[in-house]
Amino acid sequence: MNRREMLLRALQAGVILTLPKPLQFFANDKGNAILTELVGNPLRFPPVFTNGGTMTLAESNVQVWPLPAATTQVIAVNGSFPAPSVVIQKGQTFTANFVNNVNEPTTVHWHGLSVPEIMDGHPKDAVPLGGSKTYTFPVINRAGTYFYHSHGDMITAKQVYKGFAGFFIVTDPSENFNLPSGNYDVPLCIQDRRTANSPQFTYSPGTSEMMYGYLGDTVLVNGTPDAYFEVGRTLYRFRLLNGSNARVYRIEFSDSRSFHIIATDGGLKDVPVSATQFNLAPGERVDILVDFSSNTIGQSVTLKSIAFSHSGTLPYKQGIALDILRFDVTSNNASGGVVPAAFNPITYYNINEVVNTRTFTLSVSGSTHPMHKINGLTFDINRIDWEVPLNSLEEWKIINQTADFHPMHAHGLQWQVYSRNGNTNLPPADKGWKDTINLNPAETVRVLVRFTDYKGIYLFHCHNLEHEDDGMMLNFEVIDPIGIQQIGSEVPEKFRLHQNYPNPFNPATKVKFDIPAGINDTSTIKVYDINGKEVRTLYSGILRPGKYEFNFDGSNLSSGTYICRLVSGKLSKSIKMILTK
Ligand code: C2O
Ligand code: CU
Ligand code: CU
Repeated sequence: MNRREMLLRALQAGVILTLPKPLQFFANDKGNAILTELVGNPLRFPPVFTNGGTMTLAESNVQVWPLPAATTQVIAVNGSFPAPSVVIQKGQTFTANFVNNVNEPTTVHWHGLSVPEIMDGHPKDAVPLGGSKTYTFPVINRAGTYFYHSHGDMITAKQVYKGFAGFFIVTDPSENFNLPSGNYDVPLCIQDRRTANSPQFTYSPGTSEMMYGYLGDTVLVNGTPDAYFEVGRTLYRFRLLNGSNARVYRIEFSDSRSFHIIATDGGLKDVPVSATQFNLAPGERVDILVDFSSNTIGQSVTLKSIAFSHSGTLPYKQGIALDILRFDVTSNNASGGVVPAAFNPITYYNINEVVNTRTFTLSVSGSTHPMHKINGLTFDINRIDWEVPLNSLEEWKIINQTADFHPMHAHGLQWQVYSRNGNTNLPPADKGWKDTINLNPAETVRVLVRFTDYKGIYLFHCHNLEHEDDGMMLNFEVIDPIGIQQIGSEVPEKFRLHQNYPNPFNPATKVKFDIPAGINDTSTIKVYDINGKEVRTLYSGILRPGKYEFNFDGSNLSSGTYICRLVSGKLSKSIKMILTK
């Protein structure tokens, strides 16, 4: 439904959804008057957060739809919907004193940013009602469009739907490249809501909405329904954030114009890439450069989501056509920005340097209440599902066995997409630094992953927020690399795994092993509990022939007997290690 149809429907129903501005005349270049229909609401911009200040989360009533509509009850940060935008330079320390005045424990998560575990807004670190927490961390990420949002346990979807999400924009003067800036650098947070419930953001998903996600039939941009934005005949940078719970947008302009994709989740690409369309799934960001200089004053062009086929039921269905934001060309103002030929190079990971491949299968199962699962598991806040050594390059192979989209996201890093269904020739919005990648139905996506910044417990989950709250989320822990050391230069004759020393041990022990000449296969070292359940992968990769040793740290394990197993090609050896605490 487009804006015109909506207005018509509203008039037929005797309800005024939007107060049309009076029709206005503009003169075009040839001096002819053009009738421009300026219905809608001017695009809003969130206030800018003052670094070091307070972020108070509280219910608040704000005017979302224009008068005479009633106000909307939102979960606002500092009384503002949309939540204030953080704008901060790389290298500075960000600090916010978060005060939780809503009636449930919650957290703030800084999506896409590398921050220490206790600052990451994991639901285990929730701030109670009336409680407060100082979130502070150095901004080490590249310049780019990030965001923050609720990560409360099982309430993320509801809190984001009601307004708890804002931009976190990282700047870096060394990455200016004469891009459009100031008023010509425009953040656009795209969120869908339900017309039938307006002016309220009623959040009441039923079983099928937990399956497909809570989808709306109208789009708010920066909290503005039926939004328009007046532009000059010049180049703009738009930072698109999909802040929706579940909706995937297929972005295109009403005149199918081309634009340049310049940044992905983790900042600028290596080169601007011309495109006419891209997909934007929940949690993803794409920055584009759009040139209005070939338009005449008085013309309008609309940013849309075009229709695509997808399962689900109307009216709240993926793939319906939606208007997002209308641009009205109203001036000859110039931004002075350019489309650069190139940005800084990006070093792409080499698939041949991967030391470990992990597989994640996304499925849906359960009869009374079907749930989305990762490797058959749903979220357990206290369970750590795997460990990743810091600095090691891993491949995460994500297999979507369902008929729905799953925008998969990991905390604590930016990753690189390697392939979609085996195809390494990726669309421009997939290539570059990413923290969220949308899996299409029945698709397999491989991402290359290297944690370089912090150890600790982080999350891997679907950014369809209904799926996330329903448990499509796992904990993993970034750990110290075990630090395998080669001892001397002797090449041993036999394949051996020596008994650990000391044994029993608490909490650490030393293990030595020998790789003889002629072994060129991958070696893996894993630890299992007495029931054969894998508790840790210590190493996976090629080891040259030689004598080695490493330390095994059992601090996070309980007392018991553990099996350490070394496998190199067809050879394998095991030892029993006894942890006594
Ligand atoms: Cu934006 Cu854990 O997510
Ligand atoms: Cu995140
Ligand atoms: Cu999902």
